[in-house]
Amino acid sequence: MLKAIISPSVLASDFGQLSAECKRMMDGGAEWLHMDVMDGHFVPNITMGAPILSCVHKGVPGIFMDCHMMVSEPEKWVDDIANAGGSLYCFHLEATSAPTSLIQKIHDRGMKAGVAISPDTPSSVVTNEIGSAADMILVMTVYPGRGGQKFIERCVPKVSELRARFPDKDIEVDGGVGPTTVGKCADAGSNVIVAGTAIFSADDPNGVIASLKSTVNT
Ligand code: DX5
Ligand code: ZN
Repeated sequence: MLKAIISPSVLASDFGQLSAECKRMMDGGAEWLHMDVMDGHFVPNITMGAPILSCVHKGVPGIFMDCHMMVSEPEKWVDDIANAGGSLYCFHLEATSAPTSLIQKIHDRGMKAGVAISPDTPSSVVTNEIGSAADMILVMTVYPGRGGQKFIERCVPKVSELRARFPDKDIEVDGGVGPTTVGKCADAGSNVIVAGTAIFSADDPNGVIASLKSTVNT
């Protein structure tokens, strides 16, 4: 049985208080924390890397760091992220030509492996071999690169298609997801919900976490 998981995107948090923000989310009911790692190459922005994740890991006992690697050479950072305490290493299928061996490398370093697809990438890129080897599939519902964008509805059918082929895998949605858009994602079969702006800009973030979670059909 799949679990409903809420993974707040810390991109929308106060980076100056990152550990405290993560702890606040966990105390508020979040299962995972979504850490957006951007390299300024795969996407135009630069955010954070292993040294910051390592500090957060040390400062927040029990944190599950869901690392979304928006980087051009995902093979390069597996060791650093594992050493920093990363729990799940999710790389973009647009960024590598050897996804199956990369999944193996991630597993060898004791992390869960995720594969991500951007809005213009079809779900068929997640072949049965790749999807079976991975622990999680991330369907981007905005173009990767920054928070606070509008949810792209045409990405939702990819979630349904992937759920039909991979009934037991975690399927995550990321980008523009909040109380008004989560229902479509959950109905399509997503059980891992990333939300940045919708949670961090709310007056009652714990209430938003609870309401997102209640929408997921498990
Ligand atoms: C976009 C990031 C997302 C983003 C989500 O490149 O991968 O995780 O921070 O933020 P919201 O929920 O504000 O769209
Ligand atoms: Zn993300």
